[in-house]
Amino acid sequence: MAQDNKNGQLMEEFTDRELEDILRTGHEFRKLMSYYRCAMMEVETKFRVLSENMSYEYDRNPIESIKTRLKKPESILEKMKRRNVPFDPQALTENIFDIAGVRVICSYQKDVYMLEEYLLRQDDVVLVDRKDYIESPKESGYRSLHLIVSVPIFLAGETKMMNVEIQFRTIAMDFWASLEHTVNYKKDYNPSEELLDSLRQCAEDISDIDNKMQRIHDRVIKEE
Ligand code: GTP
Ligand code: MG
Repeated sequence: MAQDNKNGQLMEEFTDRELEDILRTGHEFRKLMSYYRCAMMEVETKFRVLSENMSYEYDRNPIESIKTRLKKPESILEKMKRRNVPFDPQALTENIFDIAGVRVICSYQKDVYMLEEYLLRQDDVVLVDRKDYIESPKESGYRSLHLIVSVPIFLAGETKMMNVEIQFRTIAMDFWASLEHTVNYKKDYNPSEELLDSLRQCAEDISDIDNKMQRIHDRVIKEE
């Protein structure tokens, strides 16, 4: 007997044409994921190069750490459903911009904007979207600078432009976001208004400390 697929439909109930379509789409999605992985590597390398260069030129490194992640297939499907994006590789690239993600954790707030400037100055980087949640924090208290950039990946036979989401934040903003995430993204848990207020207050307190640390750093640089 033919094997059931997830929806309970028997394999033999698909026409050859339908099976071919399923396989082709699966192949196209895997290829697309591989392109996104390449784009993520390109962007990560750009930051590693900037970091190396700044360590050499100025004897300091504005980047604490760089993290990369490729969105999981389940999360991609969930977002496509939520946003009514048709199940098609082209529609996916045109509508979902955070498949490849790079998070750059900086020491100080000024480093965030400096790195943004150095990145956007590069001739092969195209800015697609920019959301400054440092200047205008989200309702939750979340702070970070988000960019969507389009960068070329140089493949064996062609060059492709791919979107990458970059999140810049300071160590302090990352500290808050990581802990808040564990509270707010728990399944079946609805935090009370009071708890959300406390989290917002924590974000404010952390931001005050971030500003103080920035001022200390500015003084040290002046006095050097
Ligand atoms: P998504 O569908 O979540 O991608 O939303 P969006 O496309 O409107 O993007 P948005 O600018 O809201 O930021 C998306 C990403 O920023 C999320 O996937 C998180 O990584 C991060 N983020 C945004 N808001 C919060 C927040 O309140 N708390 C935490 N911890 N992270 C957040
Ligand atoms: Mg996202």
